[in-house]
Amino acid sequence: MQSEYQHLIDLSDYPVSWWTKLIDLGVEIKNDPPKYAHQCDGKIMATLFYEPSTRTQMSFQTAMLRLGGRIIGFDNPANSSVAKGETIKDTTKIVSSYADILVMRHPVAGAAKAASISADCPVINAGDGGHLHPTQTLTDLLTLKIEKNTLCGLTIGLCGDLINGRTVHSLCKALSMFEGNRFIFISTPELRMPAYIKDIITANGSTFEEVDALDEVIGSLDVLYMTRIQQERFASVEEYLAQKNTYVLDRKKMLLAKKDMIVLHPLPRVDEIKVEVDDDSRAMYFTQAKYGVYARMALILTILGEQGGSETLKGKVYSGVRCDNPKCITNHEEYLPKSFRFSGDETLLECEYCDERKLI
Ligand code: CP
Repeated sequence: MQSEYQHLIDLSDYPVSWWTKLIDLGVEIKNDPPKYAHQCDGKIMATLFYEPSTRTQMSFQTAMLRLGGRIIGFDNPANSSVAKGETIKDTTKIVSSYADILVMRHPVAGAAKAASISADCPVINAGDGGHLHPTQTLTDLLTLKIEKNTLCGLTIGLCGDLINGRTVHSLCKALSMFEGNRFIFISTPELRMPAYIKDIITANGSTFEEVDALDEVIGSLDVLYMTRIQQERFASVEEYLAQKNTYVLDRKKMLLAKKDMIVLHPLPRVDEIKVEVDDDSRAMYFTQAKYGVYARMALILTILGEQGGSETLKGKVYSGVRCDNPKCITNHEEYLPKSFRFSGDETLLECEYCDERKLI
């Protein structure tokens, strides 16, 4: 299915050269913001946030305002016609006729992809359920570029809720495209990284290991990426409570880390990083959130500057076949074509919206 517009749903839809050009533009914007102050004069960005957000929503809004553009949108679907049962298709169709670019966050995987099918302007995925968060990844890559001066040859520890963490899914997919990166997944057995992300890492030539204890590996890391145990992604409070407080980064653990290791976190944090760590010069999470504005300014300029369209659905609809993931948008919005691609293995189909695999 062809769209007239370029969207950002998954960074993997673009070559690495596109990301690196965008990151280089982010660095240029950081170094000379006034140069970009009027590049979006007369443009309107709509932010449709079906799920709470502080950083992503406000950094997108700040980015557009700093580029000279204006913003519309909602941050609580209960105050929009979504509360009356309006579909993503209809909301997107209408809002994309008001705005030049549309930014969507949604609690269900594949929602931004669904929006891109009907939108009459470019759509940016600002987080779709536990699936992907590509603009956080651009923020993370920009932070690594500025603070570590490289995107290659790094040992990256990712700690916490790796099964539900859309930020770590997007980040691992992206960093595994750069040479020499090694991943250490630190989680409980229940919260391990999904198999499809591990397969992508291996296919891209990077390596990973899985461990339970942060203390054992922190000394070998160049980057520690902490994540929140996300209560909203668990099926029950009991399951959440069983995982809560498993990993807490404190001053004592930081003593075991390299002098130049940096600590990243997409934020918000709850209790997985003690406040006492904030004063450590290696704590980079607040700076990372600030760099998110530059990354998103670069993204808006890139997407609005691009010519030509993109293919929103590349796979096939198989009669009677639907995605098994209850958190996939195709199981919430019935009209969507249930499109799958082959995963490489002849017996496996992959949902084009949420990447869930299905044996045939
Ligand atoms: N990092 C991030 O997505 O934060 P928000 O949920 O506050 O947008």
